[in-house]
Amino acid sequence: MVAPPDKSISHRAIFFASIAKGESVIRNFLDAADPLSTVDAFRKLGIEITELAGGIPSQGSKLPRRTTVNGQGFEGLKEPKDVIDCGNSGTTMRLLTGLLAACPFFSVLTGDESLRGRPMARVITPLKQMGAGINGRSLDRYPPLSIKGGGLRPISYEMPVPSAQVKSSILLAGLYVDGVTEVKESVKSRDHTERMLAAFGADITVDGLRVAVRGGRKLEGQDIEIPGDISSAAFFVAASLLIVGKGLLVRDVGLNPTRTGFFDAIKKMGASLEFLNERVVCGEPIGDVRSTYVGGLKCINIGGEEIPSLIDEFPLLCVLGTQAEGITEIRGAKELRVKESDRISAMVSELRKMGARIEEYDDGVAIEGRVLLKGAHVKSYGDHRIAMALSVAALAAKGETVIEGSDCVDISYHDFYKDMTELVSF
Ligand code: S3P
Repeated sequence: MVAPPDKSISHRAIFFASIAKGESVIRNFLDAADPLSTVDAFRKLGIEITELAGGIPSQGSKLPRRTTVNGQGFEGLKEPKDVIDCGNSGTTMRLLTGLLAACPFFSVLTGDESLRGRPMARVITPLKQMGAGINGRSLDRYPPLSIKGGGLRPISYEMPVPSAQVKSSILLAGLYVDGVTEVKESVKSRDHTERMLAAFGADITVDGLRVAVRGGRKLEGQDIEIPGDISSAAFFVAASLLIVGKGLLVRDVGLNPTRTGFFDAIKKMGASLEFLNERVVCGEPIGDVRSTYVGGLKCINIGGEEIPSLIDEFPLLCVLGTQAEGITEIRGAKELRVKESDRISAMVSELRKMGARIEEYDDGVAIEGRVLLKGAHVKSYGDHRIAMALSVAALAAKGETVIEGSDCVDISYHDFYKDMTELVSF
């Protein structure tokens, strides 16, 4: 199979292409609700974005979809006439807050119920230090946000929690500012922004955990190809580890080292993984991943510095933990409480319904394996990654599982159930 296009990179391609000068062509853009929230937002900001003929390679199309963005340069965004709805997408809202903080007009951002409950002080605090006028609900902590942008100054900001969204938000604002804006992290979060900004011609330097951007250098339109999403491929690799006799080859998966923590973790659990045809496409390492069923997974301990590189794979690791011999512990992951849902409590309560032995901590879980899961009626909490992880648990379970709210997979992976059905029936 071919992994669907990367969500994080799809968002960034629209952001940078919109503020670059000239046309950008994006091949293999992710056609899912979250990145489409970003497309909608930039259309409201006056950017012309066109979908050209072609299909999605993962669905057998020979002609990959092409999305063109008619970039208008830094000064080209227009004051939106209405509120911008970021849907369920934290990446859209947090990155847009940074960008709009630098634009000399008024804008208002909102989102669905889940997004309106997610913390925004983490971007508002540094952007206010840069001089932005931003207000939000509950003492400037939650959306809707109102932004009166422009007139920013550079800052040097040490991030309290590693976060690619916060880092990217500050760097986007920094593009517009005279002087050097710098961000320091304690652990490296995904670095797609740094890689893509360099490709668009920004004056950006990365020195270990420090990223600095000198504002004012114009971005130029680019041809971009989006790699497959390791976070989507992970569900299939996990399924192939749990279904006896299944081997799997996933082609064109993004293998950026800030994202591959899940593969490192499952190798430690005993998975047999091979990386083939490794290459670099548009500044991002990609390759094909072959997993072979070996059976008998072992427990592991995950925590600390490992967390950012597997942050979105936590629900799936909980499922694998139920099938691994011994006690699997995942700690230092408190951030998961403020994702699209509280992913720690969601996985604990739903996997317990399926018979898992799982203990909840403030910052993670301990799971005792190996347990024969039983089919149950479970909930997705409207969170795409919970729905997909529970689907993998359902494959390993005896009896039927019903996932309430399963259609939220559309947020990142429209054809998830179709592709999963193909995998288990070939
Ligand atoms: C993302 C960064 C991560 C991740 C999210 C997408 C991004 O969030 O969980 O799904 O595209 O930058 P944080 O940056 O808040 O850790």
